[in-house]
Amino acid sequence: MPRKRGAPKTKEGEPVSTLYAPDPGRNAANSFVFGTRSARRYCEGVTGISVRRARTSDIPVILGLIEPLVQQRILLGKERVALYEAVQEFRIAEDEAGDPVGCGAIHVFWEDLGEVRTLAAVDGWRGRGVGHALLERLESDARDLGLSRLFCLTFETAFFARHGFVEVPERIVDPETYAELVRSPDEGVAEFLDLSRVKQNTLGNSRMLKHL
Ligand SMILES: CC(C)(COP(=O)(O)OP(=O)(O)OC[C@H]1O[C@@H](n2cnc3c(N)ncnc32)[C@H](O)[C@@H]1OP(=O)(O)O)[C@@H](O)C(=O)NCCC(=O)NCCS
Repeated sequence: MPRKRGAPKTKEGEPVSTLYAPDPGRNAANSFVFGTRSARRYCEGVTGISVRRARTSDIPVILGLIEPLVQQRILLGKERVALYEAVQEFRIAEDEAGDPVGCGAIHVFWEDLGEVRTLAAVDGWRGRGVGHALLERLESDARDLGLSRLFCLTFETAFFARHGFVEVPERIVDPETYAELVRSPDEGVAEFLDLSRVKQNTLGNSRMLKHL
């Protein structure tokens, strides 16, 4: 597939985060660590995935995308109102036709610490770079916010490990920060802290962290 020249832009003028060629090198790709020169060479083909800020009109789409994953207890369920309140945290991946093919968000926990949450690719688009494009943009958002550590709670350990996340022990913050975080009403913070009231949500998930 010919290499695309220049920096592609979304309709809103934002640079396209990441572009992938459709397989043929899935196995080869799996030996790459994203962000390396080899990975970038692999990613230089084009399927036209772009990533943009979420709009309020995306919230029904996000709900539809995550609902089956919530039913399977893969993602934490969110009330519609909570999604509207958090719309600035979200990014949407869309295909060339402008149809949403994935979503993801960064939620700030503390001065240096945030969480990748509600990262999901539409079923038919899995394994084609949507997750990577979103995560790369979310990491960039996290850096812009001043964060230096990103947490995630996930079953997708291979995907996150490929992006530099490592599994971590239970306690990630010092006792003083823990004492402040425990005051948060946010369910994701409770899961981060591994509080007993949310243990049923976290069973089987891995706790992973990346230093940006
Ligand atoms: C995690 C998730 C968002 C990843 O999305 P995705 O779009 O499938 O991710 P990518 O395509 O970027 O990468 C997936 C794999 O496909 C491979 N891949 C990437 N581009 C490819 C291409 N063009 N052809 C074939 N394979 C490709 C990658 O190497 C990667 O392999 P790995 O899992 O061994 O690292 C998706 O699996 C999902 O929605 N999961 C359910 C929700 C969830 O668990 N979210 C995480 C917790 S918030």
